[in-house]
Amino acid sequence: VSIEVVERLRAAGFVAAEEEAADLIAAAGGDSRLLQTLLSRREFGEPLAWITGSLVFCGHRLHIEPGIFVPRLQSEELAMRASRLLTVSKGGTAADLCTGAGAVAEHLQASVRGARVVGVDNDLKAVVCAARNGVRVVAGDLGAPLRAATGRFDVVTAIAPYVPTAQLARLPRDVLEHEPRSALDGGPDGLDVVRRVVADASQLLRRGGWLLVEIGGDQDGALVAELDEHGFGRPATWYDEDGDLRGLSASLVAPAREPRAWPASSPDP
Ligand SMILES: C[S@@+](CC[C@H](N)C(=O)[O-])C[C@H]1O[C@@H](n2cnc3c(N)ncnc32)[C@H](O)[C@@H]1O
Repeated sequence: VSIEVVERLRAAGFVAAEEEAADLIAAAGGDSRLLQTLLSRREFGEPLAWITGSLVFCGHRLHIEPGIFVPRLQSEELAMRASRLLTVSKGGTAADLCTGAGAVAEHLQASVRGARVVGVDNDLKAVVCAARNGVRVVAGDLGAPLRAATGRFDVVTAIAPYVPTAQLARLPRDVLEHEPRSALDGGPDGLDVVRRVVADASQLLRRGGWLLVEIGGDQDGALVAELDEHGFGRPATWYDEDGDLRGLSASLVAPAREPRAWPASSPDP
């Protein structure tokens, strides 16, 4: 790895300078002018995966389109938990709402033989990227495009925007300046979209099916009433090695009290 590249990355404040340098050098493919361009983009804070065009998630290499949210390694745990639950359903059906590049959907498809997986996102760039990653994907608002399959899913996953608006400013500079706000901003308590995910999942899932969402902070407490109201039970949470909350799963034990009025304009899947 070129010392100059590593030193420039270190000077720009990147802690994993050596690994990043190796990725940039590989992406430049021996073209030194291209390497300078890629390096400058990184120094400006552009996400590494946008520059190299790819990222490894759960052991699979994914294509990453500039402009979309970059899948986080911390989300692998949710993908692996969902995969285990889907395996129990013996090649069942899963919906990945807010699929982005399709990382979770792609993992479910690749790891569970015979599984039928569909992703949904309301950002067309993300839809195109997920499709390039081999994911069957539709554009739309959360579960609305899947309404024709109400009650048929075994697993619903969602890594929705969940950062409370007031905490956006605390995110790393490169995330804030480059990644789309619509992928991050979850409203006043961060749960605006997640609450709607809970409501939609209660319609999409069969009884006994599982919902898995990524959340943080103390958002599990704030979701309890929402889960209960929509017929979910057996909630379980998981944490990272620092003890920070990373996600929640719950099973649909009863029919929802108030069925969702799906928008009439949503296309069929
Ligand atoms: C935090 S990113 C996660 C993307 C992907 N699941 C991942 O882990 O890489 C949230 C994604 O939700 C999408 N999104 C936000 N609101 C949505 C909505 N109402 N319906 C569908 N997708 C939505 C954004 O476009 C973005 O791709």
